[in-house]
Amino acid sequence: MRAVLCKEWGEPSTLEIEEVERPVPGAGEVRISVRASGVNFADALMVADKYQFKPPFPFSPGFEVSGVVAEAGRDVAGLGVGDRVMAALPHGGYAEEVVVPEANVVQIPEGMDFHTAASFPVAYGTAHLALTYRANLETGDVLLVHGASGNVGRAAVEIGKRLGATVIATGGSPESLEVAARRAADYVIDYGREDVRDRVMEITAGRGANVVLDPVGGDAFDASLRCVAWEGVILTIGFASGRIPEAPAWRVLLKNCAVMGLDWGGYLRRDPETVKTSNAEALRWYEEGALDPRPSRTFPLERAADALEAQAGRGSTGKVVLTTDQD
Ligand SMILES: NC(=O)c1ccc[n+]([C@@H]2O[C@H](COP(=O)([O-])OP(=O)(O)OC[C@H]3O[C@@H](n4cnc5c(N)ncnc54)[C@H](OP(=O)(O)O)[C@@H]3O)[C@@H](O)[C@H]2O)c1
Repeated sequence: MRAVLCKEWGEPSTLEIEEVERPVPGAGEVRISVRASGVNFADALMVADKYQFKPPFPFSPGFEVSGVVAEAGRDVAGLGVGDRVMAALPHGGYAEEVVVPEANVVQIPEGMDFHTAASFPVAYGTAHLALTYRANLETGDVLLVHGASGNVGRAAVEIGKRLGATVIATGGSPESLEVAARRAADYVIDYGREDVRDRVMEITAGRGANVVLDPVGGDAFDASLRCVAWEGVILTIGFASGRIPEAPAWRVLLKNCAVMGLDWGGYLRRDPETVKTSNAEALRWYEEGALDPRPSRTFPLERAADALEAQAGRGSTGKVVLTTDQD
């Protein structure tokens, strides 16, 4: 089987595609014949040695795949050969075959194609778990979503609307704001040109946002601390801006707010049952038509470097996925 390999830290262009041994499932694991692999912001970080987890060389990047179960190991109870599935993994998704613990595999709902399924686990899993399980977003709340044109941001806008929140979306260009508006954000703010704090206070008549979902960090996080509501929650998801911000404790105290982290991969490792429950609800909402995870661009597996460049470009309009030619 073919796999995209990282053999040294560097740019996406250093990745190579090679024939490697097919992986064998152990107890409680399945082998998936991959149809599509989701491309995420953190894939390029991992290849560049800028990610918190550093696999030994050679490794394949890729946190999520869709495909068909090709082999089930011992003690696999709920999945069988031929099942259409999506799965999350610590890395290794840029390959024609992957082995994954059964706990990290979910059946694809009828009507969802493989490309869409490969776009779902990380972005929708993260946004759903953050907004429901962590922040307990409620109908009538105001949700502020930074980087709303990005993978996690788009999912958060849709999930916020499904939960009955008023959604304020931020982005860095008219194209980004257009993406957020198409996902039904109620208000949009261009954080390159407008003062986020002032606009949020104006929109909320001085009350601020009850929940902020922040995959951007940097200035977006600083502004969030100044426009989060009394007893509000700021969900720290990532640092796409490149700056890891710091929260002055006096602001947290005076706002009676919480700055809360959410590492979806951490939940997958420590508490897969909670992730499963979260996935199940998000997939029900997809089946209702409330969520639109369809990707905007596909690349064949051998063009992984181009796919990573496309994902990293600002102003993206949708998820990027890699496809294999396997049926
Ligand atoms: N905690 C978790 O479990 C978890 C899960 C998934 C992702 N993440 C993290 O969340 C962040 C976003 O991931 P994603 O997959 O949503 O990424 P993405 O699709 O690339 O979206 C990131 C968004 O951030 C904005 N942005 C602001 N400054 C940027 C900059 N300097 N460079 C690039 N984009 C910038 C961009 O919108 P504008 O161009 O409109 O500003 C972009 O749409 C990453 O740090 C990722 O590692 C964390």
